[in-house]
Amino acid sequence: MISAIRGTHDILPGEVERWQFVERIARSLCDRYGYVELRTPVIEKEELFAKGSGESTDIVQKEMYAFTDKGGERITLRPEATPSMVRAYVEHSLEHALPFAKLFSMGPMFRYERPQKGRQRQFHQFDVEVFGISDPAIDAEVIDLAWSLVTELGIAQAELVINSVGCAECRPKFHEALLKALGNDLQTLCADCQRRAATNPLRIYDCKVPADQPVIDALPHAIDYLCEPCATHFAGVRGHLDAFGIPWKISHRLVRGLDYYTRTTFEVLGQTLGAQNAILGGGRYDGLVKKLGGPDRVGIGFAAGIERLVLALPESLAAVKPARVFVVALGDDARAEALKMLRELRAAGVPAEMEFEARSMKAQLKRADRVQAAVAVIVGGDELARGEVTVRDMRKSEQRAVPRAQAVEAVRTAL
Ligand code: HAM
Repeated sequence: MISAIRGTHDILPGEVERWQFVERIARSLCDRYGYVELRTPVIEKEELFAKGSGESTDIVQKEMYAFTDKGGERITLRPEATPSMVRAYVEHSLEHALPFAKLFSMGPMFRYERPQKGRQRQFHQFDVEVFGISDPAIDAEVIDLAWSLVTELGIAQAELVINSVGCAECRPKFHEALLKALGNDLQTLCADCQRRAATNPLRIYDCKVPADQPVIDALPHAIDYLCEPCATHFAGVRGHLDAFGIPWKISHRLVRGLDYYTRTTFEVLGQTLGAQNAILGGGRYDGLVKKLGGPDRVGIGFAAGIERLVLALPESLAAVKPARVFVVALGDDARAEALKMLRELRAAGVPAEMEFEARSMKAQLKRADRVQAAVAVIVGGDELARGEVTVRDMRKSEQRAVPRAQAVEAVRTAL
């Protein structure tokens, strides 16, 4: 037997309904908040992420599925959606058609990480991006959309954490303060942290090595180094969240594992998820569009892990199955008529099934019960001769004869 690749999953019937529920609510929210869909390819040039996500990130350093294709080009499976969304926005000059672009996308992402509960190598994101709006009200709208997703899915044990990582103006001062506070302790940190100190000191906050944590916990906080405009912006975001009644907490360690963030960062943490507890994360990225060759447009967005949303859904969310109809055929002549009946029901929008092997009435009704059919339509030789079918309400175990021509209508009423 050839098995699936480590870190990838088949989503089987029985589970897929939970996925569809999540996708349905996500799409419905985008519709209500005015976000339109943009679909980008799964493969991109490797340099898009080196430049977009950032050379110093773990994603680019360790986790990309990058390869040389048969034409000699360096290609990668996308590890995240944001650089692709920006690329498409720039490549198609969408700033003209959509000066205030509010976009979303859904699909698979790939990161070569160590698989564990809630962490796969192929996983799926619901991704939301906004280009061209800098007012704190849009930060609050994006966070509101993220929070509404979690609450409308019925995920109760969740916590919103926010932070601000400043901008190109104030970041250097914060970096300086970080390095100063580290001092000689830097030598005691892991090799990754030593590298981070040289390339992008903010990334030290990404460190997961337990021995390094006491030193990192004592480091300065980004919000204490914000310039005046960044501080005002962050106060604006908090004010809107308070007005919406959305509970938030500041997390000083929330610098996010990607290099493009400026100002607002946020995550929603699921309290039932274990180690991989980030249900979604995002933030503002004001320099990225320009960096990737586009106009000077600000940006903000987030991505939710669909696997993690599905894991955090309430257990009680049984898949709501549509009421089904089971067509029962007795005898060869009736069978041809029953097949026609089956097609008519489906064309009329009624989900209907039938047993294709010739079986007894009892066996067919048993099967109807197993698929939880609400109604059975019995087509037999006697009924045919009279130009009728029998419509049986499976829940009440009641049945009646109806003229063949009115069968679809009678089934609809019985449902
Ligand atoms: P991220 O925090 O790297 O951000 O990923 C967002 C979400 O994707 C995570 O919170 C998590 O739910 C899910 N996720 C990430 N890696 C895995 C994995 N290996 N297995 C399962 N789920 C995973 C981004 O990707 C940014 N592009 C978000 C963003 C959009 N920022 C601005 N706009």
